[in-house]
Amino acid sequence: MNNSILSTPFKLPCGVEIPNRIVKSAMSENMAASKGRPSEKLIHLYERWGRGGAGVLVSGNVMMDHKAVGEPHNVIIEDERYLKELKKWATKCQSNGSHLWMQINHPGRQAPRINKEVVSASDVRVKIGKMYAVPRPLEGEEIWQIIEGFGNTAAIAKKAGWKGVQIHGAHGYLVSQFLSPLSNLRTDHWGGSVENRARFAIEIYKNIRSKVGPNFPIGIKMNSADFQRGGFTEEESLQVIQMLSAEGIDLIEISGGTYERSAMMGTMKKQSTREREAYFIEFIEKARQITKTPLLLTGGFRTVEVMEEALRNDELDFVGMARPFAVDPNIANQFLSGEKSSIEINPIKTGVGLIDKLGAMEVKWYSAQMDRIGKGKEVKPDLSVWPVIFKMVMERG
Ligand SMILES: Cc1cc2nc3c(=O)[nH]c(=O)nc-3n(C[C@H](O)[C@H](O)[C@H](O)COP(=O)(O)O)c2cc1C
Repeated sequence: MNNSILSTPFKLPCGVEIPNRIVKSAMSENMAASKGRPSEKLIHLYERWGRGGAGVLVSGNVMMDHKAVGEPHNVIIEDERYLKELKKWATKCQSNGSHLWMQINHPGRQAPRINKEVVSASDVRVKIGKMYAVPRPLEGEEIWQIIEGFGNTAAIAKKAGWKGVQIHGAHGYLVSQFLSPLSNLRTDHWGGSVENRARFAIEIYKNIRSKVGPNFPIGIKMNSADFQRGGFTEEESLQVIQMLSAEGIDLIEISGGTYERSAMMGTMKKQSTREREAYFIEFIEKARQITKTPLLLTGGFRTVEVMEEALRNDELDFVGMARPFAVDPNIANQFLSGEKSSIEINPIKTGVGLIDKLGAMEVKWYSAQMDRIGKGKEVKPDLSVWPVIFKMVMERG
């Protein structure tokens, strides 16, 4: 271990100490067995990642309701039927000191025709071809049931030995649908002002806290903005960060974008080297001015130099990486020890306009690498995109 600031531990407001500053951000693994059961392949992937040195490993999005899944093979945790599997997942992953957090999600309208019915804040569909149905606006009582469901799933994660949870409030899923004035047209106390649109996220946080107690880490992943005209703005995001901070949340992860505008994958990147590497760095500097809540930034980090500079300048407390972990499960150890100082991640392109624009290949190609790790194989940097597309089309039509 060298003396990099990346290797220093950090104590969260709830009192839990994280061993270092590197976080593996959520990547949907799509590896559940039937009915959302965590599979052996998935547990094996996390066993491998658990040896890789990250301070925190955030799981791919786990669904809190079997009626609302984002992808065909998501893990679904809505009761204790998979407690045994969750315990094994946590034990195998955490045996080298990394903390495993569960990212909890409800996709709302952003689910491509795999649910019987799609619900959201309002009846505004995702505008990408004809892939997405018009959602039914949720009734007040249903909103409270979903809030309760997030809390139940978090309590199960804690019971199974997981060391934290993260609310998925980014990338255009249900929490983010409530936050954005483009997808939330409600006129009741869940819509309109930013305070009203943030109520869903805040109530989810409060429900989880009431069930896991004061000493258990709760984070949220949020958009800096959704980068659409008339959408959730940076100013609004800063206001929501202040509201969540006032409630006592432990960690806010900053990302950005939705399926309609996939900024989280680097499509909005700017010209200066630093901003090209860390997509939302300018925003996190603003967030730092208005909150004392620990901050995690994800999207684009590739060199130790840029990570260390951001930490040393006190712009953030944790650096998040996703794709680097899919092509090198040992990347955190190598950055922490000084053995490696950067990782190259190249855009994954097919040359087919629509597929490339949606960023679908970015996700599917890295999923294929995770699948290989889960099967005990080595990653394959020269993996062709075409078999991956074929599998995607067969699964999704
Ligand atoms: C295969 C794949 C799956 C992803 N799934 C999720 C997810 O389940 N939840 C989430 O918040 N972000 C998800 N993301 C986004 C990443 O967490 C991250 O924000 C994004 O990849 C940018 O970080 P990077 O440049 O380090 O890859 C996914 C990204 C990839 C490549």
